Amino acid sequence: HRHLLGINGLQPWEITYLLDEAEAWVTVNRGTAKHDGRLSGLTQINAFFENSTRTLLSFEIAGKRLGADVVNMAVASSSVKKGETLLDTALTLNAMRPDVIVIRHDASGAVALIAEKVDCPVLNAGDGRHEHPTQALLDALTIRRRKGRIEGLTVAICGDVLHSRVARSNILALTALGANVRVVAPPTLMPPAIEAMGVTPFLDMDRGIEGADVVMMLRLQRERMTGAYVPSSREYLAFYGLTRERLERAGKNALVMHPGPMNRGVEIESHVADDIHRSAITEQVEMGVAVRMACMDVLTRARRGVEGWA
Ligand code: CP
Repeated sequence: HRHLLGINGLQPWEITYLLDEAEAWVTVNRGTAKHDGRLSGLTQINAFFENSTRTLLSFEIAGKRLGADVVNMAVASSSVKKGETLLDTALTLNAMRPDVIVIRHDASGAVALIAEKVDCPVLNAGDGRHEHPTQALLDALTIRRRKGRIEGLTVAICGDVLHSRVARSNILALTALGANVRVVAPPTLMPPAIEAMGVTPFLDMDRGIEGADVVMMLRLQRERMTGAYVPSSREYLAFYGLTRERLERAGKNALVMHPGPMNRGVEIESHVADDIHRSAITEQVEMGVAVRMACMDVLTRARRGVEGWA
């Protein structure tokens, strides 16, 4: 693969390979000598057309630890604001001869469109409701490290599934790796025909998380609910929020996850989010740096004349 546009299209062994590569970076990142230098001389452009804290910062840190020259395109002060089209922007970036481009965009498919027009690997950092592949990889790595495996686990992905690229990429990755995936959502936020993705849908949260090994909560994405019914925070917490009481229904040592940013008191209670024994939320962020180092290393191998997966 030249690019990483989604989990869709990756073979299970390729997902496992990226997780194994990332595992090695976790050890490096926990030490004091974090610089590796294998991307020395390469230029990495991060072009985020949508807001981000975790993904942008971790891609920047990952690139710097690997020795790349990292440039963040400041979209808010760029010529995008003067009406430059996405394709013209892509051709402009490409003309500066980057070696890897990381893109986030609010339109599904925009990253794939750019990938067709540029001469270097493109990594999807989230495109609309479509995919967020590095998030699914970091989530899979977090689960594998905490639970020792992914195959055979019951993972409940709960909340605003309809608008969630995180849910979509996680469903693809976790089913490929042999997990039993349930999706739990109110009827208005459940994608139609979701069973076709190999998951079991639940409209009732209590039943959906019953006995689950992992409870993965999603952010209620009000910014994507144009014209749709938007539940109030109190109503949502009561029926679909992860409260301490509700978590009792999940498996005894169920792992709590959330990709962030969280709406505390809406989809997740603070008690649960901050419970260091149950919640893996900060560990997910840590795994994000390792996963992004692995992806950038692997995807630039052909360019660096190194044998490998890409
Ligand atoms: N999980 C995630 O993508 O977070 P950011 O939007 O902060 O990057």
